[in-house]
Parts: sequence; C-alpha cells; structure tokens
Amino acid sequence: MSPRFAPFVGRVAHDGTDPWALHWEARQAAAAGRDVIVLSVGDPDLDTPEPVVKAAVESLRAGDTHYTESAGRPALRAAIAARHAARTGQAVSAENVIVLSGTQNGLFVASLCLAGPGEEVIALDPMYATYPATIRASGAALVRVGMPAAHGFHADLEALEAAITPRTRAIFVATPNNPSGVILDAAEVEALAAIARRHDLWIVSDEVYAGLAEGGRVPSLGACAPDHVVTVASLSKTHAMTGWRAGWIVGPTSFIQHADNVAACMLYGLPGFVQQAALKALEIADESEATVREYCRVRRQLFFDALQGVPGIRPCWPDAGMFMLIDVRGSGISPDAFVHGLFKAEGVSLLDGAVFGRETEGFVRACFAAEEAPLRDAAARIRRYCESLAPAR
Ligand SMILES: Cc1ncc(COP(=O)(O)O)c(C=O)c1O
Repeated sequence: MSPRFAPFVGRVAHDGTDPWALHWEARQAAAAGRDVIVLSVGDPDLDTPEPVVKAAVESLRAGDTHYTESAGRPALRAAIAARHAARTGQAVSAENVIVLSGTQNGLFVASLCLAGPGEEVIALDPMYATYPATIRASGAALVRVGMPAAHGFHADLEALEAAITPRTRAIFVATPNNPSGVILDAAEVEALAAIARRHDLWIVSDEVYAGLAEGGRVPSLGACAPDHVVTVASLSKTHAMTGWRAGWIVGPTSFIQHADNVAACMLYGLPGFVQQAALKALEIADESEATVREYCRVRRQLFFDALQGVPGIRPCWPDAGMFMLIDVRGSGISPDAFVHGLFKAEGVSLLDGAVFGRETEGFVRACFAAEEAPLRDAAARIRRYCESLAPAR
C-alpha cells in the first residue's frame, strides 16, 4: 500500500506514450557523438546575443542573487509593456505585465486563473503539445475546435462559436501557430475578439513566435479586445534564449493581480540576473529579433525547396515561425512509423503530428531553425528514406 496521489497528477499526465521520447533519444544520441540531425524541437541553432550574456554575468558578479519581486522588476515590466505596445498597438503599462518563467509558465498561470473544475476551455487544434495538460491542470475540460488541413489550418470560427457552452471560460490560440506556422489574419482576429466579447470569454493568445512574423508583428487580439485577452510570450524563440526561461503575460490589471498571487506561491520571482539579461535583450530587441527572423526565413525556403518532389510527402509552407508540417499520408506508412523509421535509417528526428492534435494526424513536424549544411543534409536523408519506402506505397 502507498498513499494516493492527487487527482491533479492524472490531469497533467500524457495519454499513453511520451510525445518527446524520440526527441530525447535523438538528443542523447547526438550527445554521444552519433551522426544524427535533431529537427524535433523549436530551439534555434543560434547563440544568445553576447550583450545579453554579458548583462547576466555582470549582474551575477555584482551579487544579484537574492529574491526579486514576484511579479518581476518594475523596469523589466515597463520594458515588456513598451515592447508589447509598440508591437501590437495595445496601450499597456508595467501594471499590465507579470514576468514569469517562459511562455509555458505563463500559459499554466493563465490556465489556473481563468477556469476550473466543471468549466470548459476551448483550444484550436492543432495546438502546442503542452496545451492539453496545461488546460486540464486547472480542472477544466479541454474542448478541441479544429483548424482543418483542408482549410489551410485556419480556424473554423463558426465551429468555434458552436462549441461555446455556458461552461466555457476561455479560448487558447497561438499566432503564429505551432506546429502549422499559420498566423491569424486581421479578419480572424476581429471575429475572435467579437466572439470573446459576445460570450464574455477570455482569450489566451500565445504570441511566442510573433516576433518571427514578417515585420515582427501579427494582428493583435490584445489590441482588439484588451479586457478579454491575455497575451503570453517570451524571449525564448525570438532571441535564441530558450534556456533562460524569461517570459511574461500582458493583460488587464485585475488578471495580473490574480496571476501575481499564483506566482507568489509557485515561483516567487525570476532570478535577478535573468531579469537583467531580459532587460538587455529588450533593449536590443529590434536587432536580435531581425537576426532570428532572417535566419528562419532563409531556412524555411531552403528546406521547403529541398523537399520538393520527394516521393510520398508534401511540405506545407508556414506563414512564420520555425516549423514546417509535412504531409506523409502518401508515404504508405503511418506518421509514427515514419518518424521512427526515419530516425533508425537516417538519424533525422522529427515529431509525429499527432502530438499536436487531431488535425495534424497524417503529418510530421520539422523544426528548420538549424544550420544550413545539416538542414540540407536532413532533407537529403528524408528524400533517401522516402525513396526506400517506395515498395510500401
Ligand atoms: C506555441 C508555443 N507556446 C509556448 C512554448 C513554450 O515557450 P517558452 O520557452 O517561452 O516557455 C512553445 C515552445 O515550443 C510553443 O511552441
């Protein structure tokens, strides 16, 4: 006999197999010196900008190793507000911002603050792999609304409105989306904001990739419905800072107060030296975002071109971000068999699209934010693998 765990652990457990298992196997193989190319995670092959590292080191050396304000340092909150306002046109100030440990932490805090047991949260499918557990953590039920491949992975807003019930509290969206790279256009953003206002719902807008869209911006839900939208983002992708865990939420002050109460009993402040690094990153944001954006733009084209004419598969052009979905329904094997077979035969790791929901069944996802030579090599290996599958078709 052993004491029981809380119902919570069941809500955050993944159903069946660990979606990241192949990715971690590939990472381990790479660390052991095996000839593998890891395209299974959204972590740009770029170093954090030097001035950012310097700011962190200087801050550490100056003894910045004590507790910090749980909502984040006022100067950083103000800098995030200014950046958000410039990017979206939404008028916000430091009081509209809480600093958290990455977008993921922000999504989790938002989930806990906005819904609970007996309530429902809608998420547009495909969705980032952590969303189901993040949403269910609150006790709310996840309701999926499809963005079908046949509609170019765009939202079916009529289906979304039809899925709203008296129990619905919030809608989770990501723009640009992971895995599809689709950006919600201005009309979709207007319509979604109108739905939120009509049904008095929250929207959690995950904009972690927004800085990678053309011009560094996407049509903003927050600007359209400031009282209904919380925007979550971080420095992870746009500044090549995934390991720093520097993220935030921008939202109405009433929301920020609740989020701060959660942060106070969960995180109690991001390390001061990470916050000083984040402040520097925001100071040089135009330049560093442009670097990552250009890096991704060039590789999107390179990878897309290199996969043309590969038998049995079809790459899907993303609006922005660092991911490409590849339709493998013509390969003759399941996406799960495809990713495992590809890794075994050629040492290239991709993710099965099913990790991201029902609408991406039949697809696999590749991250193309890698150096050009390995990316070309990966495409050549995918081609060779697909040619070897010819008898399966
Ligand atoms: C859509 C989306 N949201 C959130 C995250 C998590 O980002 P962060 O490193 O800021 O926690 C990711 C990471 O891949 C993502 O793709």
